[in-house]
Amino acid sequence: MIIAIINNKGGTGKTTTSVNLSAAFADSGYRVLLVDLDSQASASLSLGIKYSDLAPSMADVLFDDILIKSAVRPSARQRLELVTGGTELANSDLILADVPGRENRLAECLKGIRQEYDFIICDCPPSLSLLSINAMVAADRYIVPLTAEYLALEGLISLMAAVEKLKTGMGIDTELLGILFTMVGTGLKSAREIVDLVLEHYGEDVFKTRIRRNVSLGEAPSFGMNIFDYAPKAHGAEDYLMLADEVVERCGIK
Ligand SMILES: Nc1ncnc2c1ncn2[C@@H]1O[C@H](COP(=O)(O)OP(=O)(O)OP(=O)(O)O)[C@@H](O)[C@H]1O
Ligand SMILES: [Mg+2]
Repeated sequence: MIIAIINNKGGTGKTTTSVNLSAAFADSGYRVLLVDLDSQASASLSLGIKYSDLAPSMADVLFDDILIKSAVRPSARQRLELVTGGTELANSDLILADVPGRENRLAECLKGIRQEYDFIICDCPPSLSLLSINAMVAADRYIVPLTAEYLALEGLISLMAAVEKLKTGMGIDTELLGILFTMVGTGLKSAREIVDLVLEHYGEDVFKTRIRRNVSLGEAPSFGMNIFDYAPKAHGAEDYLMLADEVVERCGIK
């Protein structure tokens, strides 16, 4: 199962979700590959990779045809492997502009190794650039992390419309796995109203699991750790374990 974690808006919890959902799956016994498609490489750094040690990265795989297998590396967590992001990914649209089949490159790369994993999670950059398109083409399902803030519904509707257009244009049937509320606080009336509006509009497409705002989730990346290593008893760990269960259920794996 290949899952893209996508939202063109920045800072909605894509990377936090990619890293901790991957770690939760690995903890539950699944074999997981995290593909970091962001030039900021936040997911890789969150898994303890040093900035100076990002190469070989997805940029080498996508631009220089190095075998993805040779770019896969282990993480500190059992059953969780990753391919790092890297600064060169920022120029993907330019570098791949004239390359035939440029939207299918990730799908092609993953073909040879997908059977080695139960889940492949793609952390997308905050845009609908060629990298996110590659992730959508490669993925079976996609998750949209969302924060309950002003204009959340409007942003979501326009993202979903763009995704539908992309799917039609590319002839792909990558399905929505769910919309995930992240950084959910307590008590803010406006945030509750936004959650209700999104629920009214998207109903069952919204995950029952909500990721609460949690200081440990925000701190863990600066120590190069996922939440289960950094603060296994924190709300954040509990929420991402619940999300992993709900994803497994929605995928019909259980
Ligand atoms: N549930 C949470 N509680 C507290 N802080 C969080 C939570 N989720 C994410 N954060 C923090 O919020 C910031 C944005 O999260 P994250 O990097 O996951 O978003 P993103 O969508 O990947 O951002 P970008 O669009 O820049 O790639 C980060 O500093 C992260 O540590
Ligand atoms: Mg990110």
